[in-house]
Amino acid sequence: EPSVYPQPGGAYHPLVASSDPKLAGVKLPKGFKWGLASSSYQIEGAANAEGKGPSIWDLLSHRVENWVADNSTGDVLASHYWLYKQDFARLGALGIKAFSPSISWPRIFPFGSGPVNEEGVKHYDDVIVEMHKNGIRPSITLFHWDTPLALFHAYGAWTSPLIVDDFFNYAKFIISRYDAYVDDWFTINEPQYCNWQYASYPAGTYYPAFNGTGPGVKARFLCGHYTLLAHAKVAKWYHEEFKGQGRITFKNSGNYYEANSTSEADKVAAQRNFDFSIGWFGGVWSDGDYPKSLKETLGDLLPTLTQEEKDLIKGSCDFYAIDGYTSFSAFEVSGGLEACVSNRTNPNFPDCAGSVSVAPNGFPVGPSADPGVNWLYDAPTGIRGYLNHLTKVLFPSIPDIVVTEMGFAEPFEGEMAERSGLQSALWDLRRADYFQNYLDNILAAIVYDKVNVTGAWGWAIFDNFEWASGKAVRFGLQYVNYTDLTRTPKASMFQFLNWFKEHEDTG
Ligand code: NOJ
Repeated sequence: EPSVYPQPGGAYHPLVASSDPKLAGVKLPKGFKWGLASSSYQIEGAANAEGKGPSIWDLLSHRVENWVADNSTGDVLASHYWLYKQDFARLGALGIKAFSPSISWPRIFPFGSGPVNEEGVKHYDDVIVEMHKNGIRPSITLFHWDTPLALFHAYGAWTSPLIVDDFFNYAKFIISRYDAYVDDWFTINEPQYCNWQYASYPAGTYYPAFNGTGPGVKARFLCGHYTLLAHAKVAKWYHEEFKGQGRITFKNSGNYYEANSTSEADKVAAQRNFDFSIGWFGGVWSDGDYPKSLKETLGDLLPTLTQEEKDLIKGSCDFYAIDGYTSFSAFEVSGGLEACVSNRTNPNFPDCAGSVSVAPNGFPVGPSADPGVNWLYDAPTGIRGYLNHLTKVLFPSIPDIVVTEMGFAEPFEGEMAERSGLQSALWDLRRADYFQNYLDNILAAIVYDKVNVTGAWGWAIFDNFEWASGKAVRFGLQYVNYTDLTRTPKASMFQFLNWFKEHEDTG
């Protein structure tokens, strides 16, 4: 079988050498869904407008110095909240037929629960109308990390069982209103980030350590627990109420881990990385429970699922959604599992599940491997292995997979860069090459390996707020000038479009 990517040590040729010539003109399966994605807090701005309530990110970005590396906030950003009409007109003109945004929970329920903010509802009504006017089909995420702040104050948000019904009520409200206009629903974005991304509160500096009296390191697993249950409750209701009308799932954060050598220790380390990332929420595809390895390693840090809860979780996803950016070679840390276990009170504990390294230990050096680019999203080729591993080894009951995010970050700092770096920001050959490679590898998995992949979404529609990295790290296929708010398609946008032009089955 042909190898899509140049092998380690091979020269890196942007925009040319990375395609597999045998895939030229080969078509994707009919109906393959593709488009671009982003999320409410990352693009909307208007953080304090038209009745929106605060989310944890409003508080963290404003009140905790250096929580966000460049101390930027989501107050203004690309102002998609005000400029969505032109954004959809441009997407439509470019020929992009699907967009996956998220809805801001605190815009709809400023207090997380209770009264509805009609202005917020009207806004999203119009967002959906405008998308359809421009020939763009929405697939929507209900929760992408902007936890309503009020729910933190009320009961510690995701660490409490009370969140399950509040999320359920919000989800019911949105789905009932928009289901006829939406293709796929994503309840939750990446429950794997049940830590500082959506369960943080400044009082404890880290996710709710809560002045030392709260659940502390347990918080992470309580958060994962109630997130999973909240998703499952919504999915059950959706399946009963909207039988056959659409599909529902949640988006998994997922990087690929391949054992760095054939040694047993490295294989175990790779598997442990899967267990602690996607396995944690993988009960959906088996018996509804947490993996044995997590139970054994975490002990009483991990909540227990009742049989009723397991039954609810099992089968609650209609397809597998993976946000897969990059690939790692996994190897055992010194001291191995024992060292990890003895380090149980470290809030980063699960991250020492195995040690990881990027290319060149196994994966070809990708586009961003130059020194100074402190970002690891640079090994796009592993996705082919990942798609195979997911469906054939990890979760064989998956009916089909959608790659719900793939993308490439570049740093772009300071006002100088805003002026002098524009040309290089637009001529983003490394990102273009990333997409070419990545998409070729998805196609290879479909064509050569018969993996059932039914969609792929590029991240992001334009430069957006990269959480703790703020505005300095850019993922867009369109450049955003944060001074005058203009958007300009980058070279990668055209590469992305041309790839689908070549491979989409429109017949
Ligand atoms: C996944 C997250 O869903 C998204 O919000 C983030 O911007 C991208 N990864 C890139 O890090």
